[in-house]
Amino acid sequence: MLEQFARRSVVELEPYGWEAPNRIIAARHNLPLADVLRFDLNTFPSPPPSWRAAMTAARDADGPHEYADPTYAELTHLLAAYCGVDPAQVMVGAGGDEVLSIIGQTFLDPGDAVAVTAPTYPLHALRPRQLGAVVRTCPLGAGFVPNVEGILAAAVGAKLLFLCTPNNPTGNALDPAVVERIVAGSPCPVVVDEAYAEFVGWSAIPLLARYPHLIVVRTMSKAFALAGMRLGYAIARPEAIDLLQRVRPTNSISVVTARVAAAALRDRPAMEVNVADIADAREPLAAGLRAAGARVYPSVTNFLLTDWGSPGAAQAVAARLEQRGIVVRNYAQHPWLPGHLRITVRSPEQHARLLAAIRS
Ligand SMILES: Cc1ncc(COP(=O)(O)O)c(C=O)c1O
Repeated sequence: MLEQFARRSVVELEPYGWEAPNRIIAARHNLPLADVLRFDLNTFPSPPPSWRAAMTAARDADGPHEYADPTYAELTHLLAAYCGVDPAQVMVGAGGDEVLSIIGQTFLDPGDAVAVTAPTYPLHALRPRQLGAVVRTCPLGAGFVPNVEGILAAAVGAKLLFLCTPNNPTGNALDPAVVERIVAGSPCPVVVDEAYAEFVGWSAIPLLARYPHLIVVRTMSKAFALAGMRLGYAIARPEAIDLLQRVRPTNSISVVTARVAAAALRDRPAMEVNVADIADAREPLAAGLRAAGARVYPSVTNFLLTDWGSPGAAQAVAARLEQRGIVVRNYAQHPWLPGHLRITVRSPEQHARLLAAIRS
């Protein structure tokens, strides 16, 4: 009955699906909850020790009965220093996902068009669709490289163009020259999603000096191992940040998150060690997966896109793993990547458990 009152774009929306949560996996296969191991969410196996100390300090320092500073000034200044920009060029949000939502709400009216690549992070299309926008999809070409002319044509008359580098779920970084050609040629604002930027060391941020219509989206969920804390941010020109700030929910970042994220930004070497450990663990995992029969695509990130040859074969591997409490991102029936699984790079011990389960 309520459906008749809901926005048409919401009623028509196909919901976004994740793999089942730990509790369901454990119950389904009669396993202890602690035995469930997730390779589906591109998170890190453990946070650096200083994060834990910051959490304890945060819990003791600020009572939960008070709001955080709504301007998040300390965090904003630390992020500005981290990214080499002015604090007026930073907007924080509760995860990259909230930042993507804020961008959509800032620019999109129902019926507006956006240009996205595919396959890529599904929220680039989903958030605009929730807002009633029309999504123009430009398939990535061989090697998951964008078709520059195609995406620029799709951007004509559009309100936003989304790129993702390194790209999720393919794991490749886009050529910086290609990113710049797209930004330079785009008639509308370009959002570059850099959730995995720390793995490549290249960022579109310096392009802001030349292109005022660029917005870079970042997160502390990946390299900073803070997925559960929810901290993302946008880097853009001050005039773009001013627009985004009008839409940002006032208190979506908790006092604990603000403090832990600040501590993490003050301990950058810990993040760098974490990223280097994952980079070292990536190729041995890829080799193990190849030996188990998968085609493994080159990756610069903390996840591997793997092709098992057919939807049935990929489904069988995912099901066998799940019976043993191991969850991978199942793309067996994916419209762009049928027969594929995406597998997060974690620790060598966890990889040994994954590979043993695939072989079993
Ligand atoms: C490409 C990309 N962008 C944005 C996000 C959002 O991350 P979060 O909302 O945890 O910051 C993710 C998460 O997996 C991602 O892969």
